[in-house]
Amino acid sequence: MKRDNFSSKFGVIAAAAGSAIGLGNIWKFPYITGQNGGAAFILVYLICIILVGTVVMVSELALGRRAQSNPSGAFKKLKPSSRWNYTGYLAVATSFIILSFYSIIAGWVLSYFHSSITGKLINVAPNELTSYFENLVGNTPMMLFFTLLVIGITAFIVISGIQDGIEKYSKILMPVLLLTLIILIIRSITLDGAVKGLEFLFKPDFSQLTTQSVLEALGHSFYSLSLGMGIIITYGSYIKKEEDLVSLSLKVIAADTIIALMAGIVIFPAVFAYGFEPGAGPSLVFITLPAVFQGMPFGSFFETLFFLLIGIAAITSTISLLEVSVTFITEEFHMSRKKATILLSIGVFLLSIPSTLSFGIWSGVKIFSLSIFDLFDYIASYIFLPLSGILTCIFVGWVWGTKDAFNEISSDGLYPFSGYKVYNTTIKYIAPIAIFIILLYSTNIIKL
Ligand code: PHE
Repeated sequence: MKRDNFSSKFGVIAAAAGSAIGLGNIWKFPYITGQNGGAAFILVYLICIILVGTVVMVSELALGRRAQSNPSGAFKKLKPSSRWNYTGYLAVATSFIILSFYSIIAGWVLSYFHSSITGKLINVAPNELTSYFENLVGNTPMMLFFTLLVIGITAFIVISGIQDGIEKYSKILMPVLLLTLIILIIRSITLDGAVKGLEFLFKPDFSQLTTQSVLEALGHSFYSLSLGMGIIITYGSYIKKEEDLVSLSLKVIAADTIIALMAGIVIFPAVFAYGFEPGAGPSLVFITLPAVFQGMPFGSFFETLFFLLIGIAAITSTISLLEVSVTFITEEFHMSRKKATILLSIGVFLLSIPSTLSFGIWSGVKIFSLSIFDLFDYIASYIFLPLSGILTCIFVGWVWGTKDAFNEISSDGLYPFSGYKVYNTTIKYIAPIAIFIILLYSTNIIKL
């Protein structure tokens, strides 16, 4: 059977950028920027993205494209009769677990979208917004419904395959996302007092920067580019030889970074204009912003648009998360795409139930003093993800070999470029060591 593939350049970029641009850009990036003092943090983040992000992304794309296979098949093909395929299993497991709790947050977003469009959210008194949020996430049946909705929409798109599903919908959704962002930016920067927010974002104050913020920036850059969980390997396997992987990676990375900055430009000027705190943390989007919208003319309209924006960003990421397991199951177990998608969606939904309950009746259940939701997040994002990232770098740098990797990256010489030395050093030493440090830091093995 002929393998499906992306049919156009724009399609590949839209799909890969769709994966990269997610809750990480619009929810997390602004709030960690807020907590770490703004512009100085952004600067460090940019350095991490350029240094480590590009090299790892290009390598994962090359790995997938050379092997024409799912992550575990890819390691197996390039190094037969070894145990490297376990790295592929690890990547698949990571994306599957992440999908189970990412869908829950995406569910919160859909629920907020629903209550914005029906005008309910705009009428919640500002001092009640915290309890509104807590009641919502604690309402297990309702949250399960919205999580199921997220998984359902995701499955609907994935079931149609690469060209007729992921590519087709990404090509529609990504431009809509950009347009929504632009409208919101215009609204936000024309508010009285918006300048303070822009200063916060773009005027570096290095006194706020700690070693911890540097590690946070590095970790987030990895997560934001969807690296280390088999997604980019999987997408790479559907990319044609005629595509220039370096230029593709640079475009995806630029898009991911620009959208994160744009999200900051929407959020901070508005937050400052209405006198709120920029460092509110995770509640920035779910509690602070609804209060901001309440004071704004046509607030209800902009609020709806904002949650639509995050909803789209989240769904284009859940698609890529599910696609990893679907490609894996269809190839390794010779199952049809339809059957694999349905079974995996049911599996993900079941796995999301304990996490959902951990905001409700199981809120008292703690394992290693973490709630079930936090535990899943911790295992997948802080242990599995960096581990699989390190192993991928080691594999490309030392096992498959940088010569072969470099060949594939340049499409066997079709797109020659002169960065071999830098590439070689980064993938062999800098990237794995940097990721190893993140791993030590995020598992508290080293404390700051
Ligand atoms: N890169 C996505 C984001 O920024 C997160 C993501 C992680 C997406 C893992 C897919 C897989 O939100």
